[in-house]
Amino acid sequence: MKKQLRKLGILTSGGDAPGMNAAIRAVVRSAIFHGLEVVGIRRGYSGLIAGDFQKFNQRSVANIIQKGGTILETSRCSEMLEVEGRKKAIDALLSQEIDGCVIIGGGGSFRAAQAMSEESEVAFMGIPGSIDNDIWGTDFSIGFHTAVNTALDAIDRIRDTASAFERIFFVEVMGRQSGFIALTVGLAGGAEQIIVPEIDMDVESLCQNLRESFKRGKRSSIIVVAEGNTVDDTINIEKYVQMRLKVETRLCTLGHIQRGGSPIAADRILASCLGVAAVEGLLNGKKGHAVGEVKGEIVYTPFKDTWQKKKTIDERFLKYIPVLSQ
Ligand code: F6P
Repeated sequence: MKKQLRKLGILTSGGDAPGMNAAIRAVVRSAIFHGLEVVGIRRGYSGLIAGDFQKFNQRSVANIIQKGGTILETSRCSEMLEVEGRKKAIDALLSQEIDGCVIIGGGGSFRAAQAMSEESEVAFMGIPGSIDNDIWGTDFSIGFHTAVNTALDAIDRIRDTASAFERIFFVEVMGRQSGFIALTVGLAGGAEQIIVPEIDMDVESLCQNLRESFKRGKRSSIIVVAEGNTVDDTINIEKYVQMRLKVETRLCTLGHIQRGGSPIAADRILASCLGVAAVEGLLNGKKGHAVGEVKGEIVYTPFKDTWQKKKTIDERFLKYIPVLSQ
């Protein structure tokens, strides 16, 4: 029989992403709307283990929909890899009589939630938040759209100076295991080449493509590189190309700039919809799942699938780049 939920915990975990605050707001307000009590858990799983709780009401999440980062703060908590760490986390939830818990984060955070689902009666529900967009079970994770726009703005600026100096610029974007950001900003920013973890690339063929583009009259180029690419460190790729082509090159690593900033509308809307659907799912007896949006429909994916199944990049984009950057 379906157990009636009374008290919901909420935390953010792993890398923060723009739109997490909009998701917190949606979860808190819809939970209270449905008569649940809500407790904010600060500093992710580390704060959970330490018992860092704060009772939330509707006003606790006022004025945050437009804010980047996460008002709950976050952490990467290695204790959750061990059963003893998770026992402390479960005991902390039970000490507050929390019977449902929403985890906003990525695959690593959902792994811990899956383990706790097996080790306790608490109903866990995930909301995918990661700029990397590498979580199975949703077309987009919260933060991806904003990170792409931030990186794109940087690339547009780099393009100005690259063409002023006739240089080849390597722009490294985030994406530890996936090339979603690289591919998307590469296409949108008119990049000449994209290097992503999903596709093997030989640096000699990159040099050859650049030589041919010089012959066609190009004087500057932008190569977008995902940090997790399997070729080499971006700085080594840059130095190699400089040495082979005897041209001026520069490297710009966008880094954590991509994680910050006010979420754009697409992320706020996605976060709001997923937040409401997370609470509705829990109220309807769903647990051990992450909520997502696939082709415009809300779906609930078992936690295990979110990290075991691999989301694939859109290879059309890769085919378009050489055509469009001629
Ligand atoms: O959130 C994902 C991510 O932004 C990756 O793209 C990146 O490799 C990593 O987090 C950086 O993590 P940290 O903030 O711990 O350095």
